[in-house]
Amino acid sequence: MQEKLSIHGAWSNRWVFVMAATGSAVGLGNIWKFPYITGENGGGAFVLVYLVCILMVGIPIMVSEVLIGRRGRQSPINSMKDLAVESGLSPRWSLAGWVGALAGVMIFSFYSVVAGWVLYYVAGMANGDFIDIGSEMAGKRFEVLLADAETLLIWHSVFVVMVMTVVAGGVSKGLERATRIMMPALFVLLFILLAYSMTSGAFGQGFDFLFHFDPSQLTWNAVLVALGHSFFTLSLGMGSIMAYGSYMPKKASIGSTVMMIAVLDTLVALVAGLAIFPIVFANQLDPGAGPGLMFITLPVAFGQMPGGHIFGFLFFVLIAVAAWTSAISLMEPAAAWIVEKFGIKRVPACTALGALVWLLGVACLGSFNFMSDFKIGSMTFFDLMDFATANIMLPLGGLFIAIFAGWKIKRYALEDELSFKQNFWFSAWYFSIRYIAPVAVAVIFALNLYNKFAE
Ligand code: PHE
Repeated sequence: MQEKLSIHGAWSNRWVFVMAATGSAVGLGNIWKFPYITGENGGGAFVLVYLVCILMVGIPIMVSEVLIGRRGRQSPINSMKDLAVESGLSPRWSLAGWVGALAGVMIFSFYSVVAGWVLYYVAGMANGDFIDIGSEMAGKRFEVLLADAETLLIWHSVFVVMVMTVVAGGVSKGLERATRIMMPALFVLLFILLAYSMTSGAFGQGFDFLFHFDPSQLTWNAVLVALGHSFFTLSLGMGSIMAYGSYMPKKASIGSTVMMIAVLDTLVALVAGLAIFPIVFANQLDPGAGPGLMFITLPVAFGQMPGGHIFGFLFFVLIAVAAWTSAISLMEPAAAWIVEKFGIKRVPACTALGALVWLLGVACLGSFNFMSDFKIGSMTFFDLMDFATANIMLPLGGLFIAIFAGWKIKRYALEDELSFKQNFWFSAWYFSIRYIAPVAVAVIFALNLYNKFAE
């Protein structure tokens, strides 16, 4: 029997899949979001919950996504639909794919605004703007940037176009080519950074903040944030990994590739934390400063080092590359679906999608200036996009995927796709995806809702 392939193409080999999926996972979530939400949620205890979520919920769900994608060989919406029908279920299971594609567009819109900040800092570093900048000046500078809608708009637009260009190129000439160039560069840059962070100021204090377990710091809300972030950082619950899985060679082992991706992603987040918190403490900055944390601490640190603007420049290039490879995967599920549904080429599909993301992004960047008074609940539009996706849509998408893979797909299909060499691994995965992952997501959700209403 001939192997079923996706109409969109396929990765040349399993390493390209590992690199592409790692490129999706490693992004602003690791370098920007993880440190600041850790700071807001008190440090060590939060980190521990996050690690447990990755292990018990994230990894089993990632295995399921790759499996569904590779068996379906289409966009997540259509893969879910076909697999459901194949297993004698309602085609309405594709709804999970729909929520995912929508979440992708929503995440992309605020992601692009933050990536725009990064690009602005790349340019600033290249210019030497941050040489000798103190923490007060660095804070001011970031504030001024946020107030300046025009500058934000320019960089947001640049980023959307960068991403559109790659996705429009298709799987081989766009996604794979970008992966092959950007991922090695990313790892080289990361090593340089690690060496720097280990020799910088208050390393011990930063380390302590990240790894000192103080249960009194833990709230239910922090647990929800940790759960949501474990989905966000591994690109789960919305079909990115499913789409990438649909281009994966049939022979490659799903279990070991997923482990590799999850470990790399976690390492990058921890390294980013170890780079940022020592600087926070060495300069008496506030670890709970929020989304601006990285944009204030890093320029301060790099500004004081001899030759720091070169390192600073490299570092922001690293973040930009990481954001770029992630955003590509945010767009791919919806782009692939449009191509399948309307039978059009990638260029028009990506242009239409890019325009939508761009428009939503304008409202996100406006949250910091001309739309700062527009609030839903107590959230700006930017906050809402972040909250609704990371804390609600991704975990819900993950819950659907866990139920689908664990309870609905026939067992022989699962075994065939996973082909673990040892039965133990299959059983371990099967148990987590049937019981641990869905129950954990459901319980955390329910408790949070209860707490919100009990307030
Ligand atoms: N995982 C990416 C990050 O950590 C964000 C992302 C989420 C990408 C969901 C794709 C899908 O930055």
